[in-house]
Amino acid sequence: MCGIVGYTGGKSVVDILIDGLRQLEYRGYDSSGVAVKCGEDIKVYKAEGKLENLCKVLSPYKDELKTATCGIGHIRWATHGAPTVLNAHPHTCTCGRLALVHNGIIENYKEIREKLEKEGCTFRSQTDTEVAAHLVAKKYAQTKDLTEAVRLATKELEGAYALCVMHNDYKNTIVATKRNAPLLVGVGDGEFFAASDVPAIIKYTNRAMYLNDNEIVTLTPEKMVLINSDGKEIPQKIETLPWEPVALSKRGYKHFMLKEIHEQPDVIRNILVGKLHAPDEPIVLNEVKLNKDTLKNLNRIQIIACGTSLHAAMVGKYLIENFCGIAVDVEASSEYIYRKTVTDSHTLVIGVSQSGETADTLTAIRQAKEKGSHALIITNRPDSAMARLADSLIPVNAGIEVSVAATKSYTAQLMAFYLLALYMAEVKNSVDKSTLTSLKSELMLLPQKVERILAHTENIQKCARAYASTKDFIYIARGINFPTALEGALKLKEISYINATGYPAGELKHGPIAMLDETMPVLSILMRGCVYEKLLSNSEEAKARNARMIALTNSDDEKLDDLFDYIIRVPEVQELFSPVIAMVPLQLLAYYIAEFLGKDVDQPRNLAKSVTVE
Ligand code: G6P
Repeated sequence: MCGIVGYTGGKSVVDILIDGLRQLEYRGYDSSGVAVKCGEDIKVYKAEGKLENLCKVLSPYKDELKTATCGIGHIRWATHGAPTVLNAHPHTCTCGRLALVHNGIIENYKEIREKLEKEGCTFRSQTDTEVAAHLVAKKYAQTKDLTEAVRLATKELEGAYALCVMHNDYKNTIVATKRNAPLLVGVGDGEFFAASDVPAIIKYTNRAMYLNDNEIVTLTPEKMVLINSDGKEIPQKIETLPWEPVALSKRGYKHFMLKEIHEQPDVIRNILVGKLHAPDEPIVLNEVKLNKDTLKNLNRIQIIACGTSLHAAMVGKYLIENFCGIAVDVEASSEYIYRKTVTDSHTLVIGVSQSGETADTLTAIRQAKEKGSHALIITNRPDSAMARLADSLIPVNAGIEVSVAATKSYTAQLMAFYLLALYMAEVKNSVDKSTLTSLKSELMLLPQKVERILAHTENIQKCARAYASTKDFIYIARGINFPTALEGALKLKEISYINATGYPAGELKHGPIAMLDETMPVLSILMRGCVYEKLLSNSEEAKARNARMIALTNSDDEKLDDLFDYIIRVPEVQELFSPVIAMVPLQLLAYYIAEFLGKDVDQPRNLAKSVTVE
């Protein structure tokens, strides 16, 4: 997390930095700050909380700063040190002549800090980042060369970082570097940008260079110079980004989250374009390089992801095992990377990530590749670091997701798994042709069904109002919808801060049932299919303990009216495809509860959309 921007050129830098930081707010919003070259000095401005607070801080200096054309900026998601002004970036060295912004975690910061303090450096913050500012300043005092100072300092840093540095002695120079954190350079006409992500620069240029680990770039308005960690100049690989400047608008919706929920029918249609033409035609996944022989060679699949993507992965497991008969394990990336995994060249590793940047998932994929596994990546960002590791790729084309709580990207990831599982079934010949045709027809009907849900949300709004004052919420489901229960609960937790938990319904009686009484809402995801009757019995068990019962169902069974206090009905759908249909009302329920409670729906407290630290 955290986002960094830098600019050197002919334009007024403050506007460009603020604009860039606004596009990076999804990476954190605990504090923000800028450092700009103003005449001979570097001036630093910081504010706690959202970016608008920094704008207020800068407002009195507007005229004074208008002529400044070089600067760096930062938006923070706090890791080390509370989200205060003191801990906000940019950080400066003892004499204040060098300013630095950082995304990542410097793991050996304690040792470095102790050493530098003994040498006389004065530290002002509790951050890991400040050591980098002092260390670069120390190297600068020895070398009188900012690029060389950054190069030497980063040799002593352990962990992950993207850094942008400026120094008083340089009129309009930024030095930037990275290791295990994203950073790209935007190339303009007489100007250069540095940024954690494309949205911060795309308004100004679509020509960019992604930095590789340990490369160091020195930017002035006239030129950029790229060197490797040995200090040797290396060729620049400038590419044209496949991005249009996007106006990120709510299109009349109160929040981005609501807009993104409503975009889901189109998201489903988009991912099918070019991949599924007609039910009786084979699925086309151009960037998936799994043929009959590779699939034969596989003895297991591991799907690795975090957060919402992890829940999509769990549905993926169900689908692949069901259609292809290959054993699938699903792992949280953060658990996968610190144990001995049984992964080898007979393992297909599937990484799922909206951002393609999540640090734990990236590390997991790298580890799996080192052990010889084929890496298939499902991501919304085909330009991301994860996509660049891919042997096979499924871009989910959900469009930019602004709201921190993932909605449309989840649905798009589910769609990617339907396509992949059916594709593999076709290659392996593991499902008969007529069944495949009927499954593909059903897949193509999903957009209309989601549209029907979105056209009538009154009942969900009513339900949200009825349950908004609860402190706890339990979601139960079985089979392919157990991940739906987890994701429904996660959505509610993330944006309303209600303590919501998803359980496989059969597990209720092994513990959670002890929590049930007349205050506890239990939402049962009751989709018709092989576990319907079982889940109905589990719901009866909960009802017998006086829980407040809600059903999300595609059944018109009359006995539900007695069992449930509240019923949300969704269109008829085959059980295998019900996770798509069931999730939409749960996203809406979480949204309306949070909105009713007056929460900050798009930027919930403590969260960031992209988690680039372990
Ligand atoms: C963060 C976000 C979640 C997301 C998770 C994984 O925690 O707040 O919404 O699901 O990261 O992100 P990824 O980009 O890898 O899907």
